[in-house]
Amino acid sequence: MNQDQLKQAVARAALDYITPRLSSDSIIGVGTGSTANHFIDMLAEIRTEFDGAVASSEATAERLKGHGIPVYELNSAGTLEFYIDGADESNERLELIKGGGAALTREKIVAAVAKTFICIADESKMVGVLGQFPLPVEVIPMARSHVGREIVKLGGDPVYREGVVTDNGNIIIDVHNMDLSRPIQAEERLNQIVGVVTNGLFARRPADLLLLGTANGVQSIP
Ligand code: A5P
Repeated sequence: MNQDQLKQAVARAALDYITPRLSSDSIIGVGTGSTANHFIDMLAEIRTEFDGAVASSEATAERLKGHGIPVYELNSAGTLEFYIDGADESNERLELIKGGGAALTREKIVAAVAKTFICIADESKMVGVLGQFPLPVEVIPMARSHVGREIVKLGGDPVYREGVVTDNGNIIIDVHNMDLSRPIQAEERLNQIVGVVTNGLFARRPADLLLLGTANGVQSIP
């Protein structure tokens, strides 16, 4: 199987996992990216079995609506049983790096609200120590230089992601070469920099379940 087929397999596994656990009034949190897109397309198959969705990005909202799936604002959605999303990296504790698609802040908000966060990823995303993938940080535009200098003090190499504006009107700085061996501490330190909206480490709130696509089938972790 190629990487895209592995992404389709984990999207299918997530659909199979949630379908028997849904009721007609369930609202599902839905993530962003190519793996999440496969999930959205499959979600259309069961759209009469749940109420609607909360989207983690404008792109996801548009794709959901394209399938006729009602999209709710998070503030009026109430309880979210599930949040389903991809990741750029995961370690064995299901701590993640996310934000390759620049949607990290809304993703982190929806993940925080959901009762169960199901991460869907192909096996290339599993790493021993987080940080080979540059860590995305969403930043208020006027704070770009200040945040960059503070990241250098923390041992990282900040790289401004040219031409990208987030759904919240902010910029992305990708952090290379920072020691992320203690992900919770790194997440907290970066978030303490004035001007940082949030960073793409999902360590304080890791995934609850990882469905990992491998050549030998989909593994459920833990
Ligand atoms: C979006 O901002 C990211 O957090 C995505 O979840 C992540 O980049 C995974 O994307 P793919 O599913 O496209 O690999």
